[in-house]
Amino acid sequence: MDTNFSSLLRAWFADRGRDLPWRITDERGLRDPYRTWISEIMLQQTRVEAVLPYFEDFLQQFNGPEALAAASEQQVLKAWAGLGYYRRARLLHAAASSLVKDFASEFPASAKELRILPGIGAYTSAAIASLAFGERIPVVDGNVKRVVARFMALERGADDPKLERAAREQGNRWMSELPDGNLAAAGELNEALMELGATLCTPRNPRCGECPVAESCAALKQGKVLELPLPKKVKKWVDLEMVFLVQRVGARVLLKARQDGWSPGLYEPPSLILKDQPPESAATRLQHDFQLPTKIVPKDCGVVRHTITHHRIRAHVFLAPSGPTVHREDCLDPESVPLTGLARKVLDSAFP
Ligand code: ADE
Repeated sequence: MDTNFSSLLRAWFADRGRDLPWRITDERGLRDPYRTWISEIMLQQTRVEAVLPYFEDFLQQFNGPEALAAASEQQVLKAWAGLGYYRRARLLHAAASSLVKDFASEFPASAKELRILPGIGAYTSAAIASLAFGERIPVVDGNVKRVVARFMALERGADDPKLERAAREQGNRWMSELPDGNLAAAGELNEALMELGATLCTPRNPRCGECPVAESCAALKQGKVLELPLPKKVKKWVDLEMVFLVQRVGARVLLKARQDGWSPGLYEPPSLILKDQPPESAATRLQHDFQLPTKIVPKDCGVVRHTITHHRIRAHVFLAPSGPTVHREDCLDPESVPLTGLARKVLDSAFP
């Protein structure tokens, strides 16, 4: 039997991998790209157990890119309700439209082309390209980084970009050991690495006794499994209290492109950073500063929380109803411009 790392790991996965509904392969050992895409997006920041009740229902409702593109965003969001991180669902819907329009409903077969689609980055493109098309490209997620940090005994933090790079390089070396002409092997290796990290090589209770590659694990030899990867650096947070004014003007909303700080060029409703004044008076002041036609006191829609870089933000949201319709170029349809993540939360809170 072949005893290199990737063969041992693939054999273990074939034998012990969990039986999950997105792991159906065809006679070549490849998976369906649409099912792979939906499952990998659902699995981001979400546990397998939380995804299971949604996966088949979603596929029944939207059985391919065309059905997904033809649905309204509201229908997609409804099917996603409860999974969280709704931006994923919006991007999924946008990517389905692009697939239909720009790719004649066929998934492009390489990671490079897949990355053109909204919401498909380095991780998802490598997962789809390897699992559904056999491309020999490594996937690097948190689980894979932990496996590599331990396998090589790298003294690196879980969030250190050097660990990410090392994991990609090691992944490429493992890819190069795969047998020629086996189309399924790259996907099997990638999924086996993720599975090892998810089931045995776990952060706190690793089961090294059951690990198929324990013999070649440097951290195990050095007694460092539980120490690696090193903890993330503790962030020094800056707390900010903000006020946002969501001013409706007809069917539009007053939106400004951010100039500096985080996310320059992305749009948000007008805001202020609070310094000792009550949020209500800041909202009225914003209304005044932007010379809005309405004098109606804005309605308090509560608080949303957001973190970006090292800022921890509590944002008070106020909604001012539409006054007389005026035509101003800063009054925009929120769907027509790129919004910041915080702006999305603010608008969701103003228009639940
Ligand atoms: N986590 C996300 N995608 C996964 C996959 N394909 N296998 C195992 N764990 C995963």
